[in-house]
Amino acid sequence: MTTQVQPKLIIHGGAGSSLQGKGGVEKVRQLLHQIVEEVYTMLLAGASAKSAVVRGCQLLEDESRFNAGTGSVLQSDGQIRMSASLMDGATQSFSGVINVSRVKNPIDLAQFLQDASDRVLSDYGAAELVRELKVPCYDALTDTRLQEWIQERQDNFQRTMAGVVAEPELAESSNAGRGTIGVVALDTNGNVAAGTSTGGKGFERIGRVSDSAMPAGNYATSHAGVSCTGIGEDIIDECLAPRIVIRVSDGMSLKEAMEKSLREAGESKRDLGAIALDSKGAIAWGKTSDVLLAAFHDGSKIGDTLELPGGTLTGCI
Ligand code: GLY
Repeated sequence: MTTQVQPKLIIHGGAGSSLQGKGGVEKVRQLLHQIVEEVYTMLLAGASAKSAVVRGCQLLEDESRFNAGTGSVLQSDGQIRMSASLMDGATQSFSGVINVSRVKNPIDLAQFLQDASDRVLSDYGAAELVRELKVPCYDALTDTRLQEWIQERQDNFQRTMAGVVAEPELAESSNAGRGTIGVVALDTNGNVAAGTSTGGKGFERIGRVSDSAMPAGNYATSHAGVSCTGIGEDIIDECLAPRIVIRVSDGMSLKEAMEKSLREAGESKRDLGAIALDSKGAIAWGKTSDVLLAAFHDGSKIGDTLELPGGTLTGCI
């Protein structure tokens, strides 16, 4: 009989500039902790890391404050185009969709594509898949995101990206943000999976491809899994998720791999964050941005990273 492993879970709702006001922090904390609770219960009941990751991503996509699924930011032409990916460490297979519109949960398409021979589909191909699967048409637009875009249009798109969390008091912030959601899980069989989903940077050119549907932003093997958030171009330039995972596969501890990779990213003035766990049960996070909206379950309690000092920082438990 195989020995049961203590499940572990870490999730994020983006990284970016300081959350304004305690009200914002407490609301985000409550949302993240609730989702950790629900997904961790699934893992305890024996769900696979892959299905726990999909469920976690669905819940985060459905929460309109985060920039993925419902509440996704608008691109420069006022349209929502979402990207999501899933990587199962047990089979080391990556799948995803790039710039898909009018679906509620892009992560569901990434899940479907896990078993397909063509595993990453972009806009037209993703739309064809949505049609073939008869996925109901869904409008992910929220009033806050629409107002944010209208404001930016009036200001001639001076900001390079949208706010990390959609809240009236936070959307007024002139600081840029970097929204994405992600989940990394370790199941009772010792398997790791990672999933990431995003509406993109917001106000970007049509056709811009996010890191969230690339291995650079979402990667898992039998050793470790990572989901990234932040400026996609910075994450791609660092090739951050595989950089951390491969260091672990090559024998470095998760703590050292996160520290080294984030130190390098900080030195290169990147603006990003990452969550990770390994097959031995270590949980880690790192950021170069002001805040990282992450929460985790270590087997005995829920913790989060919402009120850390700004700048490059990593942690591991
Ligand atoms: N990390 C999300 C994006 O840049 O699209």
